[in-house]
Amino acid sequence: MKSLVVYYSRSNITKKLAENIADKINADIEEIIPKVNYQGKIGYARGGKDAMREKIIDLENLKYDPKNYDVVYIGGPVWAGKAANPVISYLKQNEGNFKNIKFFLTAGSSGFENSFKQMENYSIKPSKTLQLTTKEVKKEDYNLDSFLE
Ligand SMILES: Cc1cc2nc3c(=O)[nH]c(=O)nc-3n(C[C@H](O)[C@H](O)[C@H](O)COP(=O)(O)O)c2cc1C
Repeated sequence: MKSLVVYYSRSNITKKLAENIADKINADIEEIIPKVNYQGKIGYARGGKDAMREKIIDLENLKYDPKNYDVVYIGGPVWAGKAANPVISYLKQNEGNFKNIKFFLTAGSSGFENSFKQMENYSIKPSKTLQLTTKEVKKEDYNLDSFLE
């Protein structure tokens, strides 16, 4: 089965998780790179505001086409109780291109359910979801077996 792991990560937490997932299943991996700068203090504030408004933004060119994959794993951080808007933007840009999709999110503590719903609204119902706190990812305190099944 051909799998693609797609992620957005501002501070490398989701990146670490995405790389672990891709390693385990030998998947291609794509980082979503927004054309908007979300780094630093100003970027943090912009991220919160853009996420709340569900702002759709432009992304740098993608390497892989999700249409060519049996399963696409998509992940990112929770921002202001929503999925970070680079993730939503990716889903919108690829509307209709997914056969089977799985979502993974990282957050300090909360906002997972709402963010999964929002991601589904921009794509299709996920066959699996995985939510981990920043702390759990840092400590590698998780088991991916059922998510990857
Ligand atoms: C703009 C912004 C808003 C955030 N909002 C939330 C939130 O609503 N709830 C939460 O638990 N964590 C929130 N966080 C924390 C991140 O979700 C968390 O640190 C995540 O693991 C970061 O992943 P990343 O390094 O892949 O970007 C927020 C972080 C940022 C930058």
